[in-house]
Amino acid sequence: MSQKNASQKIKNSEESFSHSTKALNTFALRLLDWFETSGRHDLPWQQHQTDTPNPYIVWLSEVMLQQTQVTTVLPYFARFMDSFPTVQDLAAADWDTIAEHWAGMGYYARARNLHKGAKQLVEIINKTGDFPQTLAGWEAISGVGPSTAGAIMAMGLHKYGVICDGNVKRVLTRWAGIDGDITKSATNKELWALAKRLTPLENSGLFAQAMMDMGATLCVRRSPACQLCPLKDDCIAHAEGRETDYPVKAKKKPKPSKFSNALLIENENGEILWLQRPDNGIWGGLWSLPLQFVEKVDGKTDSKIGTHKQNNEVKTDKQKLDVRSNEKVYETEFTTAEQIINEWLTENNLIAKPVSNTLLDDAPIRHSLTHFHWYLQPQKLVIDGQQIAELKDRLAAADIEFKWLDKQKAQDSLGLPRAMIKVLEI
Ligand code: ADE
Repeated sequence: MSQKNASQKIKNSEESFSHSTKALNTFALRLLDWFETSGRHDLPWQQHQTDTPNPYIVWLSEVMLQQTQVTTVLPYFARFMDSFPTVQDLAAADWDTIAEHWAGMGYYARARNLHKGAKQLVEIINKTGDFPQTLAGWEAISGVGPSTAGAIMAMGLHKYGVICDGNVKRVLTRWAGIDGDITKSATNKELWALAKRLTPLENSGLFAQAMMDMGATLCVRRSPACQLCPLKDDCIAHAEGRETDYPVKAKKKPKPSKFSNALLIENENGEILWLQRPDNGIWGGLWSLPLQFVEKVDGKTDSKIGTHKQNNEVKTDKQKLDVRSNEKVYETEFTTAEQIINEWLTENNLIAKPVSNTLLDDAPIRHSLTHFHWYLQPQKLVIDGQQIAELKDRLAAADIEFKWLDKQKAQDSLGLPRAMIKVLEI
């Protein structure tokens, strides 16, 4: 590229920002001044105060913080560091131990990626003697996207790295008045370009931490503390008095509701049957009670498989609940173990009894997952020694992982999703 073209390009790209060069150039200074006096400096994963940053700590904490708030992550992070002080410890741990450490934090694919990522990192360390040293190297690790990779580069290696996660996008859309839909790639491109333009070449880790703190403590979603903000004088959203209109995000369709029985199949010693969920799908690799998706049939609208009434619709006391039988739904929504259990229950005329006497859309456990709201109705069934032996044989013949554990032992030793803990607490 000729000298002229290159400078033209820089000029053009500067013109695409809504603020003056002066505003763009002073952004980092203002933010860092604020961070020094008012930011968070005692989070256990922070590596900006140390001369020898530990990328493992930053990688682990960033994955945990991807969809979970700092206050929730703190005790989980402490327990992970205690049990797996190095990436080698994490890679060598068995999945059940990791699942048990992660249980309750949700978005379990992150835990599986963490385990896979640890193994990938150990392989790289064994080959090269060190953690990946480039952005592309980190982006190749399972569960690490561009923003997490930027955070690790900047905070975990003290190299140059840019972050642009949800919190940063909120700060930047407000400051620059970017009103494009942030779920669209064009808006994302614009935001990444602005994040890059604002990130200083020196101390990008400090800048990243300061941006995170700004997003988490001042420039919050609902009532931002604009009076304390070092960027308020040239914040476009603030000037418009429309802070909470940013970021613009296409409205998501409301989530559908699904209903399930959670079977507490109990033996004579008060132990309950637990199944390990398949690796793919909901709660992959975690332990759960056997579940039965059910449909509501009340003679009015709801007789077809796949049509569910939302919880705000009229309820009738004629409502009947059927375990879903349509073959396709059955195969996709029931695990193999659940199918075996269902068939065995039907053959033996065994019916579990609801633990609480409520209609399904008042089911005692309501749990929101990424794609649907889930209403769980615990149902109890005590079976005798001979029935247990029969059921065990059927499960073992199909290579199903299962355990009989009382409630306390299950909570203490299995990786249980939060919804299962709620069932046990009823
Ligand atoms: N959210 C994501 N990363 C974070 C960090 N390092 N500190 C605080 N909140 C965060």
